[in-house]
Amino acid sequence: LIHPILLCGGSGTRLWPLSRKSYPKQFAKLLGDESLFQVSAHRLSGDGFAAPTVLTNSDFRFIVTEQLSAMGIDPKAILIEPDGRNTAPAVLAAALWLEKTDPDGVMLIAPSDHVVPDAQAFRDAVTAGLPAAQAGQLVTFGIKPGHPETGYGYLELAEEPGDFAARPLSLARFVEKPDAARAQQMLEAGNYLWNAGIFLFSVRSILAAFRAHAPDLMTPVQTAVDDARHDLGFLRLAVEPWSQAADISIDYAVMEKATNLSVVPFAAGWSDLGGWDAVWRETGRDARGVATSGAATALDCDNTLLRSEDPNLQVVGIGLNNIIAVAMPDAVLVADVSRAQDVKLAVLALKEKA
Ligand code: GDD
Ligand code: MG
Repeated sequence: LIHPILLCGGSGTRLWPLSRKSYPKQFAKLLGDESLFQVSAHRLSGDGFAAPTVLTNSDFRFIVTEQLSAMGIDPKAILIEPDGRNTAPAVLAAALWLEKTDPDGVMLIAPSDHVVPDAQAFRDAVTAGLPAAQAGQLVTFGIKPGHPETGYGYLELAEEPGDFAARPLSLARFVEKPDAARAQQMLEAGNYLWNAGIFLFSVRSILAAFRAHAPDLMTPVQTAVDDARHDLGFLRLAVEPWSQAADISIDYAVMEKATNLSVVPFAAGWSDLGGWDAVWRETGRDARGVATSGAATALDCDNTLLRSEDPNLQVVGIGLNNIIAVAMPDAVLVADVSRAQDVKLAVLALKEKA
């Protein structure tokens, strides 16, 4: 059985003002009746999958239990991080914890803020990657890039993608979040795929990779797991050792350095709702590229997303081009589409003002 590891500790600042510190995007119903977290849990349940292990922080623990029980999913464990130190410590904690019960196991790291419309195709891709993971590879899932995105990691293929078949290909390199010029080059070069941010590996091989590439994380995270405290249904990682762990993503800590990387190309549709530009692409758009949601009306606009989360707050755009406008009862964002990734700066600026 594959252990799904659901990561849902991120704060999703790039989707402010919908995504908030107390209720981030993965738990919000961004595109339908289920939250992105619920859809992700669904996608990785059923044949071949163990009950999910969830990593989150204390503030979200009851949102997690509530949203899982609403779907009839009973988690294997919910690990609580004392604070968010990004995905490297979180994944390492999950691996060290699984090592205690299933040292020969395979884990699938699943972000909870993605859109994958064809869940069965995704499970097939996971199955295709399983032998490579069992053989010690760190398996990634690769998406054909559609634009020079700077918010993603890029996977440099060591061989031709061929017919984009769902079989593992070997990787030359992993490049996390390039600048705009570099992203454009990689898009044009043609031998790069986007990293979907989903990883499949054995407990053993990811622990070896952390030992080799991020040795400083080992002692604090191991201690935090060993000294974890059971609290109702939750497992609280120990605060003091956890605070000694570096705040770093698995992409920078391990993937950019590892040499045992494979990728399973995935062609059936994927999006990280990493910014309002991505939401705009995933929301039904008219012929002029306009998407509206809630109490929003666009008149003579192009390439624009207008969204109102408050039925009493009408948002009207006239003659707009390349604009994102999102209205919440207590905050309004208006931005150029090309600046969608900078919304996180707004959150920082507001924090400083507060
Ligand atoms: N439990 C936990 N703790 N989860 C976290 C933490 C944390 O401290 N930080 C982030 N997460 C969760 C987020 O909620 C999200 O589901 C996932 O981990 C990935 O984190 P992001 O912050 O969304 O990463 P990213 O989108 O900038 O980059 C990653 O994903 C891209 C594709 O979506 C990288 O893997 C890129 O290479 C990749 O292209
Ligand atoms: Mg993301």
